Amino acid sequence: MTPSGTRKVLITGGGTGIGRAVAETLLRAGGRVVVTGRRADVLNEVTRTWPGQAFALPCDVSSPTEREGLLRRAAELLGGLDGFVHSAGQVVHQPPGHIGEDVLRSQLEINLIAPLRLGEQALEVLEPGGAQVFVASTLATRPIVTSAVYSAAKAGLLQVMKVLALAGAARGVRANAVLPGVVETDMVREVRLAPGEATPPPEEYARRQEAQLAGLRSLHPLGRLGHPEDVAEAVRHLLGASWMTGAELVLDGGLLLRE
Ligand SMILES: NC(=O)c1ccc[n+]([C@@H]2O[C@H](COP(=O)([O-])OP(=O)(O)OC[C@H]3O[C@@H](n4cnc5c(N)ncnc54)[C@H](OP(=O)(O)O)[C@@H]3O)[C@@H](O)[C@H]2O)c1
Repeated sequence: MTPSGTRKVLITGGGTGIGRAVAETLLRAGGRVVVTGRRADVLNEVTRTWPGQAFALPCDVSSPTEREGLLRRAAELLGGLDGFVHSAGQVVHQPPGHIGEDVLRSQLEINLIAPLRLGEQALEVLEPGGAQVFVASTLATRPIVTSAVYSAAKAGLLQVMKVLALAGAARGVRANAVLPGVVETDMVREVRLAPGEATPPPEEYARRQEAQLAGLRSLHPLGRLGHPEDVAEAVRHLLGASWMTGAELVLDGGLLLRE
């Protein structure tokens, strides 16, 4: 029997990247999931592949009205809920002096405020023995010059996770976080432009993208970027690990070992 925490799970950002890999890992193990995100088309790819096991609830989790009651709606679809994974996120690389007001607020909303609000819902809705997992980042502990807002939000998320772990303990509801290094998803394929720089034409964009990925790869002592499945396996473990709560699990190919 699969462990409690992995059987009936809501996954934000479940249509792409790490969230999608988490959904597929749980589905392959016999779990049932609700995937959420703003784009119905990517969510529907998951539900079409796993009819009766995967369900979609399109939602902008940055919106207080849209996310209201989200965990309860997921529980209604699955006949209860024992797991919640927050993988939805946004990163916009901007150095100090060039941090736009809109992207400052949207990064705080999706990376910090939404998981806090959804985590509060999870405390009420998850069954005893259930678990929440938050996808943070190594940038929460070691920022780079363009990551002030993202790093601050993900660092705050780690504290939110610990408070949720304390608050849920009496009911046996756990909370943990993963801190991935660079994982090859759409998020890191987006070319990081200098302040004020226009998007280059397609050929140049592709060349810059390759150079960016090679540069990021070289930061990892193990010599490769993470695969979404690497992170998904760790998330599945944390969801089901009945004596783990309040933990920060780094999986980064050795990135944080470097000077
Ligand atoms: N890739 C990395 O190197 C890396 C490293 C460390 C941590 N992370 C974290 O891993 C998580 C997943 O990212 P990823 O790498 O898998 O990239 P991704 O494929 O771009 O996933 C981001 C997901 O977030 C969803 N999302 C964004 N804004 C949303 C909103 N307002 N409401 C609902 N859903 C929203 C997106 O779906 P829609 O656009 O359809 O809404 C998308 O599915 C993020 O929290 C990210 O910060 C990534």
